[in-house]
Amino acid sequence: MTLPVGVLVSGRGSNLQAILDACGQGPAGGPARVDARVVYVASNRAGVEALERAARAGVAHAAFTVQDRGSRAVAQAAMADAIVRAGARLVVHAGFDHILGPEYFVRLGDIPAINVHPALLPLFGGRGMHGARVHEAVLASGATESGATVHRVHPETVDLGEVVVQRRVPVLPDDDVETLAARVLEQEHLAIVDAIRRFVPVETPA
Ligand code: GRF
Repeated sequence: MTLPVGVLVSGRGSNLQAILDACGQGPAGGPARVDARVVYVASNRAGVEALERAARAGVAHAAFTVQDRGSRAVAQAAMADAIVRAGARLVVHAGFDHILGPEYFVRLGDIPAINVHPALLPLFGGRGMHGARVHEAVLASGATESGATVHRVHPETVDLGEVVVQRRVPVLPDDDVETLAARVLEQEHLAIVDAIRRFVPVETPA
């Protein structure tokens, strides 16, 4: 069975694009590399590139902003309701930058949620550890490797869920935040698709 997927975004949406491409919903079309389909894209910010990517792919999408909805809890509950209504059986947080509260998870019910993080969790994760800060911390630590982690998401936690997929990259002596982030991002795009594949139901012959 093709897995219907909802995606949460906040900005650029390159991970969303990797998912769309792998599902055969990218500009080049072609056969899907994973038996999944993006059925809804929700953003906590309006006017972001990720929503344009959803529009180009013909995927239903909307922004659920705190300004419009009055609070994070209300915005997140509405986001979850839209994802459920769209029929998603997995939610992927792909560059989503708010911590999700209990209302969101109550509305999602039994739909699992996964997130992609640009480091080898549990190293370099947790509150405040996002974007360039992650790579700055990796470089400052003198670590010789970093990578991408896809993990389960649970209420009010940051980067603590069970690891689903991890891909490693070397940290090179002349790396700066930009070069390291670019190397890790390539692996995020592979890891997120690999992780989705693991949630595709296995069909067993009757
Ligand atoms: C990625 O590095 C992701 O791991 C982090 O934010 C970035 C989002 O990139 N949480 P994009 O929006 O998917 O291009």
